[in-house]
Amino acid sequence: MTKATKTILRALAGETLPTPPIWMMRQAGRYLPEYRATRAQAGDFLSLCYTPDLAAEVTLQPIRRYGFDAAILFADILLLPQALGPKLWFETGEGPRMETTTTMDQVRALRPTSAIHDTLSPVYETVRILARELPRETTLIGFAGAPWTVATYMIAGRGSKDQGAAHALKNTDRATFTALIDRITEATVEYLSAQVDAGAEVVKLFDSWAGSLKGQDFEDFAVKPAAAIISAMKARYPHLPIIAFPREAGEGYIGFAAKTGADCVALDNSITPEWAAQNVQPTGCVQGNLAPEHMVTGGEALIRETRRVVDAFRNGPHIFNLGHGITPDANPDNVQLMIDTVRGA
Ligand code: CP3
Repeated sequence: MTKATKTILRALAGETLPTPPIWMMRQAGRYLPEYRATRAQAGDFLSLCYTPDLAAEVTLQPIRRYGFDAAILFADILLLPQALGPKLWFETGEGPRMETTTTMDQVRALRPTSAIHDTLSPVYETVRILARELPRETTLIGFAGAPWTVATYMIAGRGSKDQGAAHALKNTDRATFTALIDRITEATVEYLSAQVDAGAEVVKLFDSWAGSLKGQDFEDFAVKPAAAIISAMKARYPHLPIIAFPREAGEGYIGFAAKTGADCVALDNSITPEWAAQNVQPTGCVQGNLAPEHMVTGGEALIRETRRVVDAFRNGPHIFNLGHGITPDANPDNVQLMIDTVRGA
């Protein structure tokens, strides 16, 4: 099968398909017993990310079980900042912890971009294995965090509900904050390029905390870095499709593809599919946006809301997905019910 016949690539090229292609954020994850088994074998989450055979194995598990149209590289957005120097670890049950970067001296002390591959080469090896082993019809998606989201973890040293530490640095020490954003932007281009060279066919930029940037800040730190990364990637790989996910951008979704050059905008579930069909889809492919909670609760509501998303986006290019990652308490049977509903709808 040639590239152009893969359904996800057709949707990303702007084609309206009778049935939307489908994949799911966090499709390799703790809701799957086979994932939990491989993760136990690896020991901890970061060892899983840095062991190519095992990272490839968990990437393939949801493809084998469900036949999704895309596989997303198994890794994490925090591997790139780790490759720039700060220590990274995961506290069980609590999430990521990272050595903080909050002063100009610390930004200057980050490792040079050319050094990231020393740390990240196992990730590229995972991509090479996947490019060989995935079914011919399955698209391989690489990814990175967007600079703002990555910066929120580097500045706070952990996840936070309101990204307060990053907002504070942005407002009190603009020079340090923008230097950090620029360093992440530059390194992200090299990281994504290495994934493409290893065999990634599409890349996605995760800006999970874009929604906390308002007004001009949204333009400066969500739109501008995404546009810089996408234009650098398109200069190197003119035909590379790129998905941008400015999560909870709200009105910021309008025009985001045009302003950044993204081929597709991924939608969270804080907006309705009808609103997005009217305001976002006319300018290009959209991805989304079923609420992940339906993977926990299932039943008639899952079927109804899945059909609603499919119907709303029926008249334009659409990739079916959740509005955010599937949660560990999801029931694997509900994922199958969603897929059957999309493909039979
Ligand atoms: O989607 C996929 O299946 C691909 C792999 C992937 C992971 N994280 C694996 C993971 C991707 C694309 C990510 C992105 C990521 N990581 C984001 C952006 C997307 C989003 O969810 O908003 C962010 C903010 C992170 C940082 C991160 N990694 C956090 C906050 C956590 C802890 C929360 C949690 O669910 O435990 C992680 C850990 C993580 N990343 C897990 C997985 C499968 C769970 C780790 C485990 O097995 O215990």
